Amino acid sequence: MLLSLVSAKHAPGTTTVAALLMWAWPQVAARQTLLVEADPAGGDVLLDMYEGAVREPEGRGLLAAAVDARYGMRAGQILRYAMRLDSDGHRLLLAGLADPAQVAALRDTWSEIASALTGLGGFDPPVDVIVDCGRLGSFAPPVPLLAEPDALAIVLRPTLRDVAAAAPRLAALRESLPPPPAGPDLAAVLVGEGPYPVGRIADFLGVPVVGSLPHDRHLADRGLGILAERSYPRSALGRAAASLARGLHELLLDRSRALVTSQASEPTRARYLPAPMAGVPELPAAQQPVGSPPVSPRLGLPGVTCALPQVPFIPDVSTAHIPGVRG
Ligand SMILES: Nc1ncnc2c1ncn2[C@@H]1O[C@H](COP(=O)(O)OP(=O)(O)OP(=O)(O)O)[C@@H](O)[C@H]1O
Ligand SMILES: [Mg+2]
Repeated sequence: MLLSLVSAKHAPGTTTVAALLMWAWPQVAARQTLLVEADPAGGDVLLDMYEGAVREPEGRGLLAAAVDARYGMRAGQILRYAMRLDSDGHRLLLAGLADPAQVAALRDTWSEIASALTGLGGFDPPVDVIVDCGRLGSFAPPVPLLAEPDALAIVLRPTLRDVAAAAPRLAALRESLPPPPAGPDLAAVLVGEGPYPVGRIADFLGVPVVGSLPHDRHLADRGLGILAERSYPRSALGRAAASLARGLHELLLDRSRALVTSQASEPTRARYLPAPMAGVPELPAAQQPVGSPPVSPRLGLPGVTCALPQVPFIPDVSTAHIPGVRG
């Protein structure tokens, strides 16, 4: 399973959503979850999660992977550049660029990286991949990671300016990407509160809203370091992230089942927020309908595994360094 996340503008929380999803992703049958920071503007997760206490080990990360990908890259090979975020190795991170200028090294290797990542679905055990692609329309975007995932979710706040910014970007994506099953399923994820109900936003954007995360003041203060806290899984944010992860996982499973059965899968049902406030401008319905039912030939289906090398050593940067982090 490959899920890419993007935003239009205004830093709605894309990287944060990607990290919270990786943390909460359902761990079915020993599957691992890999978070990839493919934002051309650079990576944030290590810094945010460990508050500067942990550095990327030498030779790891997206830049090192890109340098090697010039000579071709198999699926298992890309895990050599990842690091482990928990004690049992279920959660992995391919840390992003330290300097946006390094994106030049990726221009010719995004395709190799993308096919190595899509191939991880057939790895044994399979690896589910969540990619933070940064803002749409950025310089040197990771185009194959926008075109080849099973699902592409746009992250936005439920505000007029975020919805207005997302609409033309989604329209451009619809124009440039083939509809499912050849192209990814498009979806939206909301962060924080706003005057518009989820159903209205879904209608306006023409994509299902898979779920939403609340604004969390503690997260705003501490960043992803909150994942180390015992209280996090029971917090409103932790529960919402788990629910969002289940919703997206289910969307991807639907595609997988549709591939097997060649039948249409149900669109994801939107969760509803409070009604719009008085005086808030109405959002018209989308001009274009949502794409046809999703099927992907690239999903890692049960039983469709291929012989790939064992996962190589991945340095553990979690519990040994961060007091209180639980796997
Ligand atoms: N649910 C939330 N509640 C409170 N603060 C949040 C939430 N999600 C994200 N934030 C905060 O908002 C800021 C921006 O988040 P983040 O870096 O994830 O956005 P982004 O969309 O990836 O931005 P950019 O486009 O610049 O990469 C961060 O300080 C983050 O801690
Ligand atoms: Mg970001």
